[in-house]
Amino acid sequence: MASPSLTLSFPRADLAQITFDTPGKSANILSSSVLDELDAILDGLAANTQLAGLIFVSGKPGVFIAGADLREFVAAMPTITEAETYRLCRRGQQLFARLSQVPFVTVAAIGGTCLGGGAELACWCDRRVMSTHDRCELGLPEVKLGLIPGWGGTARVPRIAGLANAIELITGGEPLDARSAYQWGLADDLVPAERLMAAAQRMVDDEKSSGKFLRDRERWSRPIAIDATELAYLSAAASATIQQQTKGAYPAPIAALELMIEASSDPLETACDKEAQRMSTLFGSPVNKALLNVFFLNDRIKRDSGIAGTETAPRTISHVGIIGAGIMGSGIAAAHVKRGVATRLTDADKNALAKGDRAIFDEVAYNRKAKGPDLQKALQATPLLQCTQDLMELAHCDLVVEAVVENADVKRQVYSRLEPLLGENGLLASNTSTIPISSLANGLKRPDRFCGLHFFNPVRRMQLVEVIRGRETSDETVATLVAHAKRIGKLPIVVRDGPGFLVNRLLSPYMNEALHLLTEGIELREIDRAARWFGMPMGPIALYDMVGIDTAFYAGRTMWEAFPDRVIASPILPALIRKQRLGQKSGKGFYSYQNRKGVPQSDPEMSQLLEPYCQPTRTLPRETLVDRLILPMLLEATRALSEAVVRDPRDVDFGLIFGLGFPAYRGGLLFDLDKEGPRRILERLRPYEALGSRFQPTSYLRQLADRDQRFYQ
Ligand code: NAI
Repeated sequence: MASPSLTLSFPRADLAQITFDTPGKSANILSSSVLDELDAILDGLAANTQLAGLIFVSGKPGVFIAGADLREFVAAMPTITEAETYRLCRRGQQLFARLSQVPFVTVAAIGGTCLGGGAELACWCDRRVMSTHDRCELGLPEVKLGLIPGWGGTARVPRIAGLANAIELITGGEPLDARSAYQWGLADDLVPAERLMAAAQRMVDDEKSSGKFLRDRERWSRPIAIDATELAYLSAAASATIQQQTKGAYPAPIAALELMIEASSDPLETACDKEAQRMSTLFGSPVNKALLNVFFLNDRIKRDSGIAGTETAPRTISHVGIIGAGIMGSGIAAAHVKRGVATRLTDADKNALAKGDRAIFDEVAYNRKAKGPDLQKALQATPLLQCTQDLMELAHCDLVVEAVVENADVKRQVYSRLEPLLGENGLLASNTSTIPISSLANGLKRPDRFCGLHFFNPVRRMQLVEVIRGRETSDETVATLVAHAKRIGKLPIVVRDGPGFLVNRLLSPYMNEALHLLTEGIELREIDRAARWFGMPMGPIALYDMVGIDTAFYAGRTMWEAFPDRVIASPILPALIRKQRLGQKSGKGFYSYQNRKGVPQSDPEMSQLLEPYCQPTRTLPRETLVDRLILPMLLEATRALSEAVVRDPRDVDFGLIFGLGFPAYRGGLLFDLDKEGPRRILERLRPYEALGSRFQPTSYLRQLADRDQRFYQ
């Protein structure tokens, strides 16, 4: 039998303490065996008439309870019925409800992360004390997995914190820091970590003498007091926000909202029953499965050091230099400054440097809550960023990231000036989006200290970073860059060198196909609309504008040189460049951005500009447009897999979701297509095969179909 996770102790004769500390794990997780342990402990305490209170505490620093055991969810999924899900929810609710029924005060002493089932357990306690520790947070992120809280969260939280707060917390899925939890009434006291236990004990004593907790127990068991007009307003406003955020693709937030609105007029017990019923319809749904897949993709990357074996330790990076203050260089600099890393930025062009400097400050000083600049943040950032035109000032950096124009000669010239200045252990990385790293390393004295470090645009939003191992890149360099990328809040995957690496190699056929469609007479907006309908955050044409037409052209040229059989050298991009229509950065690209909000708008000049290259306007069904855009991407993924560009098919899905914003509710490109299987994909390809080699099935796909296998084994 596994060693217990819960330990019962008695710091005083009238005070019980349950310490949660799963042996050998960094976080406490609520598995079914832990629930059994809790049940048994509560049985034992029921007979103890001396008790004034029970305190829950974690034995792990920085973590109270991270949530339910998701691996148990996945294991149960293939066979579980709705009735069983309902029963499991009811079991959890009834077990936790004992914490609000026992004849003594129950207090959760929360010193760190308190999420999902952990937050539900805490909310069933009479009182919660939280520490002011940075990592102390309380949240119900179930909607991010396509679920709702199922152990009473949707019933307890609205009764404790108010319906409007509960709706925000549960339908948004974002955790609250301790201070906000206190303001919302979800925490009853806020103390420094070292005083957590003392505060919890004091709370037991106060409650015991005042008896206030008994009045709250009674109050929270009833319907919520809210008048019908306010309820209708709350429902309409929240529903509009959710619709705008989810575009109807994620059912859980709306399910949680409807449930909380409906159950607000019910007693607690009925609200719990309705919650279990709702949960049983969501558990195991396609979106739930897809989002669980994304969770595990993420978890896998968080644990990956990027290299085989454990002998090589990553070095620490304290000072970072960035060359090129354009879209990417300034984004990369901001990412570092936001994480407190001393950063030096340089650019050959004084104006570009000044513009980059301003963009970085705007970004790092921005306060999301206040929707404007924050003086405190600006003051913290000021000493961390230095802009200079003197390359010499980057000499002491542990890592220099080059983000100059996508031109191999220019990049090599930069390296030849920089490399002699760097210290013995200084690392050099390129943010190139397509140029093979090993070819950029030609001429370097220390190619082992050179690597690709490919951030995605916009850096503040895209979490992915590709760490590209050149032919001579050392394990230490790879491990250091993987660790460094994680430190600045990014999700790194290690990919093999080659044109476009992984993500741009897969993006290239998608972008390329958009130009084919344009040439065939499909309107810009129709192409973009189809991609968004499929779930992409923006269409390929708008993406050209965001990337920059010149950058996209250079990148496209590299791909065309590498794969001339399936990439076209369209004259459209050079035509835009000749007109200085470089995309968002110049105010005009395929669309015009010369409006107050900078949103893409049709530009009548474009039809004139495109006319010589395009057939007369025509339309195609949306499904056909999606097939045309997505299937070449899939075929490229199968080529990349057979060339071992990544170590696992899951990396393809991870890269597309976190690098391109591929819709998470689909679980990933390969995960999504696995639902239909390779034989069906071959059928879907057939009508397009005449379009050229870019639509011909690959041997990888055929083999899977022959063996009736899936991408995910
Ligand atoms: P950009 O055109 O916005 O900025 C490039 C900057 O480099 C300019 O400010 C320019 O003055 C400066 N520069 C040019 N030559 C220089 C030199 N010799 N020394 C110092 N500075 C020099 O370009 P962007 O978009 O920031 O791209 C930079 C790199 O990042 C390229 O390699 C590109 O392929 C890559 N990249 C671009 C992405 C995008 O979406 N734009 C995405 C990911 C990577």
